[in-house]
Amino acid sequence: MGILPAMDRVRNPFNPGAGTRPPLLVGRDPQLEAMTVAIRRLALGRFERSMLLTGLRGVGKTVLLNEFGSIAEREGWVRAHLEATEDIRLPTALAGITRRVLLELSLKERSKDRARRALGVLRSFIKVHVPLGDAGTLTIDFESYPGQADSGQLDGDLAGLFTELGETARAAGVGVLITIDEIQYLPRAELSALIVGLHRISQLGLPVLVTGAGLPSLPGLAGEARSYAERLFTYVNIGTLDPPDARRALVQPVEDEGASWHAEAIDLALRDTEGYPYFLQEFGKQAWNVAGGPEIQPTEMQSATTLAIDDLDRGFFRARVDKTTDAEREYLRAMASLGGSGPYRSGDVSRRMGKRTTQTGPVRDSLIKRGLCYAPRHGELAFTVPMFDAFVRRSL
Ligand SMILES: Nc1ncnc2c1ncn2[C@@H]1O[C@H](COP(=O)(O)OP(=O)(O)OP(=O)(O)O)[C@@H](O)[C@H]1O
Ligand SMILES: [Mg+2]
Repeated sequence: MGILPAMDRVRNPFNPGAGTRPPLLVGRDPQLEAMTVAIRRLALGRFERSMLLTGLRGVGKTVLLNEFGSIAEREGWVRAHLEATEDIRLPTALAGITRRVLLELSLKERSKDRARRALGVLRSFIKVHVPLGDAGTLTIDFESYPGQADSGQLDGDLAGLFTELGETARAAGVGVLITIDEIQYLPRAELSALIVGLHRISQLGLPVLVTGAGLPSLPGLAGEARSYAERLFTYVNIGTLDPPDARRALVQPVEDEGASWHAEAIDLALRDTEGYPYFLQEFGKQAWNVAGGPEIQPTEMQSATTLAIDDLDRGFFRARVDKTTDAEREYLRAMASLGGSGPYRSGDVSRRMGKRTTQTGPVRDSLIKRGLCYAPRHGELAFTVPMFDAFVRRSL
């Protein structure tokens, strides 16, 4: 393992990680372009649908949301980011980011008076919607302004809050982009209220845009929330990169550093990663570190693959199962033992465990809640992590 300057580990361009920017963001131009158009249209007071990104683990949803945030900043907008968790309370989280944005806008001469009123409305909102225990970090030194967002009805009150936010932003000559990651963790009722609230203000031409990302198991919406969501958002599936893009994601960063790939080495890397963004970064990183340089050789790629799989097993895959219970692991093993990468029929999984579907229902539900599995259709189950079936067979 000689290290020539061309393959200096310090200069390794690849970045496997959660939300870490890849050296080259390929294959996402349509989404970047759509977001730029949406922001510019809203800045003119014209309506445009926003995007909800869905996709498996490690396909680049968070990276794309971050890019959306950068586009917003380049357009002179304010960005606010929220990452949902299993125990998130949406009113508290939204109050937190609204507070931060309004305080920022209250420092601008053009919008300071409007921002004060908006902060007063937010204070009333917090009194009604944020539990006392959470409100401690949300102090506001302006007088409450009742009547706009404190009815107790979350959807209407969120509409009131977004109106204040939008009018303050407009007074400041800016817009606000709110990005929400891991949307699948939002409680269904709160997500519905968010969508109904957004729909109420969508006719007002205010410069407030909400975009989000989550697993394919986004909560199923019902009734008006569902039809509003379809009018407010385009659902965009983020997936693997097609072979030319995947090739570019591996080749250009290496060439930019003055090294290159042997044709067979790159073919091996493309075959083993199947175009999954996280795996491209991981395999690329290992290949760089193994290679003597300046050209990455096929035999070096073979060693890199072993190291990459090892690293994935200890990190990317292992992190997903660390907190699972014995019963959940048993269920995961039963899924993987059916062979292939899924989706699997829930009935087949139960049968494999020698149990009835009603007995395994709770475990199945908790795996979905944890974000390890999702139901592509009724009665079916799939892993949310690509190539997880092989990991489970290998080491669970
Ligand atoms: N278009 C792309 N081209 C190359 N690499 C990418 C691309 N998008 C993302 N990546 C890389 O893939 C990895 C995963 O990205 P990211 O964390 O955004 O995925 P994710 O979909 O949010 O995953 P999770 O569901 O686990 O949060 C990162 O290492 C990132 O650098
Ligand atoms: Mg993510």
